Amino acid sequence: MTAPVALVTGSARRIGAQIVRTLHHHGMRVIIHYRGSQQEAESLAAVLNQTRPNSAAVLQADLDQPAAVRQLASDALACFGQLDLLVNNASSFYPTPIDQADDADWEKLIHSNLRAPFILSQQLTPALRQQHGCIINIVDVYAEKPLQTHTLYCMAKAGLAMMTKSLARELGPEIRVNGVSPGPILWPEAGQMNQQAIQDATALKRSGDPDDIANTVYWLATAAPFITGQILAVDGGRSLALQGS
Ligand SMILES: NC(=O)c1ccc[n+]([C@@H]2O[C@H](COP(=O)([O-])OP(=O)(O)OC[C@H]3O[C@@H](n4cnc5c(N)ncnc54)[C@H](OP(=O)(O)O)[C@@H]3O)[C@@H](O)[C@H]2O)c1
Repeated sequence: MTAPVALVTGSARRIGAQIVRTLHHHGMRVIIHYRGSQQEAESLAAVLNQTRPNSAAVLQADLDQPAAVRQLASDALACFGQLDLLVNNASSFYPTPIDQADDADWEKLIHSNLRAPFILSQQLTPALRQQHGCIINIVDVYAEKPLQTHTLYCMAKAGLAMMTKSLARELGPEIRVNGVSPGPILWPEAGQMNQQAIQDATALKRSGDPDDIANTVYWLATAAPFITGQILAVDGGRSLALQGS
């Protein structure tokens, strides 16, 4: 009953699900948040609860709605009565060429990638402070060097990077706040990316694996007590020379 508790947003599938599996494998209790992927979220929780009863919970919320984000924060605290780690992973990602972007794109891209992480951090600060816990934001190498025609997404992730540093100052010494910036890990399910060109422009000449992100999140959360306000690129060297996009 004393195992640390982690809330990972957008964790029914893909990278978020691997973060959940890794934290759980290392003994944490996990709260799996989803928006539309109910079946995947419940299946994942069922597998984890079979391994250790009452070690995984599932919560639904649309992070575009501020009231729903606040409700998610209070529901998360009700799950296990404590919170040690918040991982802001959920994200919308798609191109927004300047002549096509509209208010709905602003809401989808800025709210999921930036406003929701801020509201969750704000709402969960008292609980995290009590546990001397941490916040880990999943950023992107494109927060620093823009991806062509993805201005709103890049703006949101750049804001998330600044939020990481700013909250690290404000929430210390009790809470550490760090970021992980993935390079190419899993290709988006919709839309086109120039996969070969991106891999060619990556020092290690390949994509990474969700494990690379999950293991870094676990390390930052549990084995890096003097690290705060840092954003660690886990990108195979992709950010050394951003070309191919
Ligand atoms: N994949 C990569 O190679 C890569 C590269 C750079 C950075 N990243 C970052 O790494 C993180 C994980 O990447 P990923 O590719 O695994 O992400 P993803 O599959 O694109 O999205 C993760 C989840 O976010 C949730 N989500 C999106 N909008 C939401 C909203 N408005 N409200 C609630 N949930 C919402 C979705 O949940 P539901 O399915 O339940 O709707 C989705 O499954 C993201 O922050 C991404 O920006 C990834």
